[in-house]
Amino acid sequence: MENVILIHGGVGSDRSLSPDLDKICAGINLRRSPLEAVVEAVAAMEDDRRFNAGTGSYPRIDGSIQMDAGVMYQGNFGSVIGLERTRNPIKVALSVMQDSPHNVLSGDGAIAFARSKGFEDYDPGTPETREKWEKMMDQLRSGALEDNPKTMQFIRKVNINSILKYDTVGAVARIDGKFAAAVSTGGSWPMLRGRVGDVPIIGSGFYAGENGAVVATGIGEEIMKRILCFRVYNRIGNEPLQQILKEEIDYFGDVTVGLIAVTEDEYGSYANKQMATGILKSEINI
Ligand code: GLY
Repeated sequence: MENVILIHGGVGSDRSLSPDLDKICAGINLRRSPLEAVVEAVAAMEDDRRFNAGTGSYPRIDGSIQMDAGVMYQGNFGSVIGLERTRNPIKVALSVMQDSPHNVLSGDGAIAFARSKGFEDYDPGTPETREKWEKMMDQLRSGALEDNPKTMQFIRKVNINSILKYDTVGAVARIDGKFAAAVSTGGSWPMLRGRVGDVPIIGSGFYAGENGAVVATGIGEEIMKRILCFRVYNRIGNEPLQQILKEEIDYFGDVTVGLIAVTEDEYGSYANKQMATGILKSEINI
C-alpha cells in the first residue's frame, strides 16, 4: 500500500495550477503523520495568494475578510468559523483540536484564542482581492450583473446584486494506513458578514475516519444540506471510489461542487468544473 497526499485548489480553479500543487505535495514529508501532512499542505495553499484561503481570501460584501477552516484525524476534529486577521486558519483549527477543550471556535472567540496561542495579527487581504471586491461592488451597484440568475436570487434575499464565486483549498492523506483531512476557505462570493459555509462543519466540508478521508469544495450552502463528506465516507468500501465521487457530484446538477478522497486502497478526485489538484505518493517505509 502506498502513502499518498492528494490536494485541491478549489472547484473552478484552473487546471494549469496542478503542477504548482504537485510541487507543494513534493515538499510534504510522507514519513510524518497524515495530520501534519494535510495541515502543512493546506497552509502552503493558504500562503499562495492565488487561492481563496488564508492570504488572498475573498472579502465579504461589507469588505471584511472572514475565514473558515477544519481538520480531522482519528476521531478528533477542530474548526474555526469567521476567523479574521490571521495568516493560517488551518493551523488555528489544528490548535483548537489539540490545545483547547472545544471542537469549534467562531468569530471574536476564535481570534482571541488564536492570539493566545501566538498567532499574530495579519491582514490576509491582497491588492488583487481588494481590486476585485471594488470592481464587483461597482457592478453590483450599477446592476450590471442582473442577467445572472444567481445574482437575482441573492438580490431577492438580501437586497443587493451579486455573482457567485467560490473555491476552497483542501487536502486528504493516507500515511501508514491512517487518514487525515484538512480544508480552508475565504468563503464564497457574494456572502454576508457572518455567513458560514460547509468548510468548518464536520461531515459537510471534511471527514476522516478509519476507512478514509474526504474533503469537499463548492457552494457551501448546498454541500451542507447534503452532509456531503460524511455521505461519501459512509459509502467507502461498497463501490469503487471513483463511482461514489461521480454519483455524489452528479446529484448536484449544475451546482458547482468538487471532492477529493482517499481510502485504504484508492484515492480520487471528481468535480463538475475544472479543479486543480496535486498529488504525492510513496511506498510505506521509504
Ligand atoms: N465551500 C466554500 C464555502 O462555501 O464557503
